[in-house]
Amino acid sequence: MTNTETAQNGGATALPGMEDQLENMRVSGDGAPSEEDEDIVNPWTVCGKADTGIDYDKLIKRFGCEKITPELVERLEKITGIPAHPLLKRGIFFSHRDLKAILDRKEAGKPFYLYTGRGPSSHAMHLGHLVPFMFTKWLQEAFDVPLVIQLTDDEKFLWKNLTVEEAQKCAVENAKDIIACGFDKEKTFIFADFSYIGQCPQFYQNIALISRSITFNQAKGCFGFGDSDCIGKIHFPSIEAAPCLATSFPHIFKKRKDIPCLIPCAIDQDPYFRMTRDVSPKLGFHKPALMHSSFFPALQGAKTKMSASDENSAIFLTDTANQIKKKINKYAFSGGQTTVEEHRALGGNCDVDISYQYLRFFYEDDEKLAQIKEDYTSGKLLTGELKAILIAELQKLVAEIQKRRATVTDKVVEEFMTPRPLKYNF
Ligand code: TRP
Repeated sequence: MTNTETAQNGGATALPGMEDQLENMRVSGDGAPSEEDEDIVNPWTVCGKADTGIDYDKLIKRFGCEKITPELVERLEKITGIPAHPLLKRGIFFSHRDLKAILDRKEAGKPFYLYTGRGPSSHAMHLGHLVPFMFTKWLQEAFDVPLVIQLTDDEKFLWKNLTVEEAQKCAVENAKDIIACGFDKEKTFIFADFSYIGQCPQFYQNIALISRSITFNQAKGCFGFGDSDCIGKIHFPSIEAAPCLATSFPHIFKKRKDIPCLIPCAIDQDPYFRMTRDVSPKLGFHKPALMHSSFFPALQGAKTKMSASDENSAIFLTDTANQIKKKINKYAFSGGQTTVEEHRALGGNCDVDISYQYLRFFYEDDEKLAQIKEDYTSGKLLTGELKAILIAELQKLVAEIQKRRATVTDKVVEEFMTPRPLKYNF
């Protein structure tokens, strides 16, 4: 391979002087790290070395993406005419690829679309899963563009010990949670791989087209696959890449190849799209643009992300108000001091305090949030009081979603998941 993105950022072929960076990208087939002293970030494992979590500035360098600067946020506000979402203002969506090109298109009145997805491994989604979807909904409103959402039931079938039927069932259940975020049916197409591949020959053709452009060696370099990984896993990246090609959705874009997508996602998904950015120009398509979010930390602390497979690390969208309260009181890692006296004297550390970190994601009022930070840091606000603020906030958020989800019937899901033209004319 030549000087392409995959090669630079984890491809099998090292460029001179790039060997160290390449090593950091490598993971063994089971997702275990090959380097001991670096944060581990890949689609299967997220683990930071410091209590404050992942060093995102370092990650930007290692991955070769760009920081979302305040100037860029300002430009986005100007072009869309609406104030930036808190997740953007607060730097939770912190990095991008080619966002400027997307803003240029918007200014020039040229089309693009949004693409995001979810691997449906469990029936219940948790708060961390919610973050990209909340932001995507805002982007959909801000830009008024089509949105496609991929549910990778096949991915979870390959990686987890699920039957095809179980994975498909999870996809439908997750679709309900996603719809409950408030997406516009006229502008949104949700599809699950196992069924969409049969419904749309062009989707499978694009998968095959992409897979032909990637060697096993490149896939190994980018994802760390090993000799004992099943070949389905090695092929899967072409399936997550295919929705980046507009022709995968002929019912929306007809035969147009010239419409790029913008992908809001957590940064662990970047390897898939780094690979896609290498391949798509060779196939006559634009490169996908990306906006990356940082991870939603586990209750136990920012070293790992919230995970559905660890019950106690996560707050689920199905949790009751009481469960939310208990989990936060019991598990949310505190940056406060051990005694009230000490806390009053020394204050708390917001950088490691999970309750404060969660408020950064979900608390809308900027001024009040700043006040909370000041009071907690000075010791005026105690850990118990901070937790109480978070509990009330999350109880409200989860209750709202549960209420909306109750209105999402199987029929509504079917409507979102039926291949059909959206309200845009291409
Ligand atoms: N692999 C992702 C997951 O496990 C799901 C996914 C598919 C996705 N396509 C995507 C996520 C596009 C973000 C953007 O959750």
